Amino acid sequence: MKITVLAGGLSPERDVSLTSGSLIANALRRRGHSVALIDVYLGCELPDDPDALFTEAPSPTCSVGQTEPDLNSLKAESGNGDALIGKGVLTLCRRSDVVFLALHGAMGENGQLQAILDCFGIRYTGSGYIGSLLAMDKDLSKKLLRDGGIPTPDSMTFRRADYSEEALLERIGLPCVVKPCSCGSSVGVSIVSTREELSSAVSAAFALEDRVLIEKKIIGREMTVGILNGRALPPVEIVPRSGFYDYKNKYQPGMTDEFCPPDITPEEDRLLADAALKTASLLRLGSYCRIDFILSDGIPYCLEANTLPGMTPLSLLPREAAAVGIGYDELCEIIALS
Ligand SMILES: Nc1ncnc2c1ncn2[C@@H]1O[C@H](COP(=O)(O)OP(=O)(O)O)[C@@H](O)[C@H]1O
Ligand SMILES: [Mg+2]
Repeated sequence: MKITVLAGGLSPERDVSLTSGSLIANALRRRGHSVALIDVYLGCELPDDPDALFTEAPSPTCSVGQTEPDLNSLKAESGNGDALIGKGVLTLCRRSDVVFLALHGAMGENGQLQAILDCFGIRYTGSGYIGSLLAMDKDLSKKLLRDGGIPTPDSMTFRRADYSEEALLERIGLPCVVKPCSCGSSVGVSIVSTREELSSAVSAAFALEDRVLIEKKIIGREMTVGILNGRALPPVEIVPRSGFYDYKNKYQPGMTDEFCPPDITPEEDRLLADAALKTASLLRLGSYCRIDFILSDGIPYCLEANTLPGMTPLSLLPREAAAVGIGYDELCEIIALS
């Protein structure tokens, strides 16, 4: 098959995406596909024969820095400004049998790109635009989860203009978790225990987005459950060596211990799988996704759903797939074909 892998993009998670993208492209090539890998934001000048970009030669691999990339410099250097789709990208996508979305965050994950691809009749991997939008917006997700009877931490959502510390402390109290509504990779997420920490965390989150969600901190064990074609994979337990599962602990090697399968009871395992499958159905997610939970006193509290989870071989969903005998290359191909 001819497959375009889209990575990068104008998103704080672009480095993570570029890393996943090159590894996915190479895995699909090893399975015999012709693959073009392109940065959706930067795009490229297409050669006279654009099919020359679908190659069997491996792409160089990228790595993730200690901190999020500087998007303003990227905008200035590229000259692409606020246009989210670079030169040549849609032409390449239209020449493909399927587009593999190796993006994270922003336009790749919030449904915008999915809607554009739909309009052009281009096939792509993962969830459609509605599921992507619902999962990306933690406020909307949690409303649907509550409506569907899935436990999720008690929370309040504020716009900048109507933020009230008093109302927050009265209803949610401390400790609490402050997060921008629609980011990912823990960008802008803070766990706070004091009023001083609260006010700087709230300012930091509002600097990223005008809608901020603040929820009760749940004390328990962090679990994440991947779903592949309607089947819940074994959970991974996530145990950061210090602090919580923030950007650094997510992407720097050796910062977090991960256990798959985790040491939980069969009943806890069943509850997690059921909650993950029900969450995916309530949020109308597609062939694969990953749902984050905190397991506390036998109750899996759903934090959020990831429609485009990390896809390096060491990422959580590929590790869960490996635990049931699905290797990385095969996983990439299953996703591309479903
Ligand atoms: N209510 C909560 N209680 C305890 N820890 C939380 C809570 N919400 C988030 N966290 C921690 O913050 C991390 C990031 O939060 P999450 O909602 O998954 O956002 P992101 O989309 O950035 O991954 C989680 O993996 C978890 O470690
Ligand atoms: Mg998460």
